[in-house]
Amino acid sequence: MLLSGFFMSRRIFAGFLKYHTDMNYPRYDRHQSYQWNYDHAPDPVAVDVPNWPAPITLCGKSLKSPLGIPAGPLLNGRWCLYYASLGFDLVTYKTVRSGVRPCYDLPNLQPVSVEMLQGGEADVPIQNQMTGSWAVSYGMPSTEPEVWCADVRLTRELLPEDKLLSVSVVGTIQPDWTLQQLADDYALCARLAVESGADFIEANFSCPNVSTCDGQLYQNPSDCLTVVEKIRQQIGSTPLIGKIGRIMDSTAMQQLLSAIHPFVDALAMTNSIATRVRKADGSYLFDGEMRGICGKATLDASVEQTHMAKQLIEENQFDLDLIGVGGASCLEDVQRYLAAGASAVHLATAAMEAPEIGLNIKSAKAS
Ligand SMILES: Cc1cc2nc3c(=O)[nH]c(=O)nc-3n(C[C@H](O)[C@H](O)[C@H](O)COP(=O)(O)O)c2cc1C
Repeated sequence: MLLSGFFMSRRIFAGFLKYHTDMNYPRYDRHQSYQWNYDHAPDPVAVDVPNWPAPITLCGKSLKSPLGIPAGPLLNGRWCLYYASLGFDLVTYKTVRSGVRPCYDLPNLQPVSVEMLQGGEADVPIQNQMTGSWAVSYGMPSTEPEVWCADVRLTRELLPEDKLLSVSVVGTIQPDWTLQQLADDYALCARLAVESGADFIEANFSCPNVSTCDGQLYQNPSDCLTVVEKIRQQIGSTPLIGKIGRIMDSTAMQQLLSAIHPFVDALAMTNSIATRVRKADGSYLFDGEMRGICGKATLDASVEQTHMAKQLIEENQFDLDLIGVGGASCLEDVQRYLAAGASAVHLATAAMEAPEIGLNIKSAKAS
């Protein structure tokens, strides 16, 4: 009896320790490959999650809080389940394609030394320590659709009903393809994701790490319209989120919103801020190609962009929600996005660095 009590309390203590150590350090190891991290997803944890004061509505769906994880950190369904267990109410499955695509070589995540970025900077220097911002370099890898569809299906089955699953998709341009073929490829991925159980589709129109037009569609409103129209035909009434990059100019934002608003339900901004990445000897990393800087350095620019988009949406009475993404790492940052007009706020970098961050933000809000 005594012995069993002893073992029981040791088990509970070990469990307690496991949960707490699990949450307090990055579970994604940036020194390991994409595949290693794909294969080493943490298990969901059993932990009390503080309540957000009131539910929120995003694209007509109710969520327990505005907190979510954007496309990127969640390499597969197990990663989605882990962050959902840590208080994130909308989890986004990292961008998938209609065919296999390998990941770029390491470094996939290179810390950079930079304060706030606005966009248009020539380059940023690297540093060894992670202090909030890094250059992201994956090239949107994907498994074949059979693999990710089965994984999305299982993930939706295992996710609690009050958590929602978004699947990020991208078309894969081929050298001889027309825009219509690219749109068909986006739409194929979106349809497969919906058939596999996705609650939301997110179309990635901005990836600074690929130089082809599938990474820059948000800068071309009429091409973007062709793609969203095609996706909408294939996904019926499933909410569609467009993920866009940095837009500094309100005329450019107005043109994009005017073109695509009839077919999308929300826009997520800002993917990252693209620039070159400089080594200590002055040469460039990534062969001098641009990479997206993510994390703290993008907060001010992205909040400002969210505010600009919100004003235009109101002036034009467009029916569009906004998701604030970029640089958020505490309750104050989340509140800045909400005040700027976002309905939801997604955290990638800060949540990778400190997986317990959703719990901390919810607990700060509740106190
Ligand atoms: C590890 C990592 C991988 C990412 N991969 C994708 C991706 O596949 N698709 C996408 O739309 N955005 C991707 N992103 C961008 C994020 O969705 C997000 O827009 C960006 O990180 C800004 O948020 P943050 O400052 O909170 O990190 C990635 C970001 C990170 C950090």
